[in-house]
Amino acid sequence: MPIFSRDLVLVMLDAQQIAIRFLETNLQVHPDVVRYILEKDEPDLIERIIAQVPKDTIVVSTRHLPGLNATRDGTRFLCDPSVEVVSGSPGTSGGVNGTADYLFYFRDRFTRLGGMIRTRCSAMPIEALTRNPRYRQEECTIIGMVTEVKTTTNGHRIAELEDTSANISALFRKDRPVFLDAERLVHDEVVGVKGKLSNDGKIFFGDTLYRPDIRIDNTPFKSEKPGKAAFISDVHVGSNTFLPDCWDKFANWLRESDISYILIAGDLVDGIGIYPGQERELSIKNIYEQYDMFGELLSAIPHRIKIIVSPGNHDVVRGAEPQPVIPEEFTKKFPDNCMLVENPALVNLQGVRVLMYHGRSIDDMIGQIPGASYEESGQMMMEMLQRRHLAPVYGRKTPIAAGRSDRLIIDPLPEILHTGHVHIKGLTTYRGVLGINAGTWQSQTAFQKQMNVNPTPAQAVVVDLQTLVPETFTFL
Ligand SMILES: [Fe+2]
Ligand SMILES: [Fe+2]
Repeated sequence: MPIFSRDLVLVMLDAQQIAIRFLETNLQVHPDVVRYILEKDEPDLIERIIAQVPKDTIVVSTRHLPGLNATRDGTRFLCDPSVEVVSGSPGTSGGVNGTADYLFYFRDRFTRLGGMIRTRCSAMPIEALTRNPRYRQEECTIIGMVTEVKTTTNGHRIAELEDTSANISALFRKDRPVFLDAERLVHDEVVGVKGKLSNDGKIFFGDTLYRPDIRIDNTPFKSEKPGKAAFISDVHVGSNTFLPDCWDKFANWLRESDISYILIAGDLVDGIGIYPGQERELSIKNIYEQYDMFGELLSAIPHRIKIIVSPGNHDVVRGAEPQPVIPEEFTKKFPDNCMLVENPALVNLQGVRVLMYHGRSIDDMIGQIPGASYEESGQMMMEMLQRRHLAPVYGRKTPIAAGRSDRLIIDPLPEILHTGHVHIKGLTTYRGVLGINAGTWQSQTAFQKQMNVNPTPAQAVVVDLQTLVPETFTFL
């Protein structure tokens, strides 16, 4: 008797049993499909999928799910010239405001990310759940912002969740499949949790965790016209570890190439006074001269190529994100094919949307997500996409300027997420979105040597906008 009789499915559905049921019919199953089945909670869904997969199928993927059609997130507008700044134009970063604005900021974060989760489950306010005894021992879903999260002495995960009505502790047992999602909870992210309230009404036992995430049927837009973009970051001009010969090779290579766009995701120069003792590692000790040199490097690039430049934490602008564009007084030597945008910025290249973000938040996520490392910058971009937020953790290493809306929410979805900061190239594809961490143009610094960080310098990731396939070129 297979374990999947209709009656048993309702009470026993978990990830392992779903995988077993597919294996019984000689099929492997993609984790996204398992997650979809868990979320849908439809007793006959597995059998319907099995009945309709083609006979030669080895792995059941999301394209085998019934009723799912490819969808695109939002509308694209082709424009001439082919670069359009969707968000992050000069002057839109806003000021650093008073404490009242933080209330608006967090409300906006909660409402918009909660709204994304609400499209997949119906949730109730936490206050309604705890006040009315009839919900105890009944399966319910809540949506909250994580205000605290820790591991208990028994190895379970416990999170404090807050919505606009109340807060509650949610416990995720280490022996349940949900633990894999729960151990990656970070402060200030917004999640949905399905589970049951304890008899005394004090603790919520979580069984399923929902992140805002990307729809599994998300289909990226591809350009109808030919066009290629090169992605780089962390040039660090002015540092004595900047690699000018490698840059020259890159510029020479560009002259013969069919690249139409270059995107640079911050840390254009090394800056001044960024860390103690930095002056000993600078070959250019004047900030204006650093940007002048950067401008000269850009001028060596063929003028037909559009260059899009955003700042990072080593640049001269404020550290709080969103960071404004590099001010005019520093850009006098920048060529006029160079376009300045903020950090973050969403730019549209022939209909392909690129979200540029320097990536400072990766420092915070590495500190909170088990197994996360600088070597795996691709995974960090996936973590951002699942949370639909570029910097979920508030108040640690990543300063955030609270505006009335949260500019760091990933909405609309881009085709490409372009980051830097960690100086180690990483590529990932998650639910149709290509993540590129673009490495650096400086060799290993003394600090990196001390921290055992091995950078990947002098690389450019080139993406064909008609296929969205990345290719890496090295100029050492
Ligand atoms: Fe950097
Ligand atoms: Fe950086």
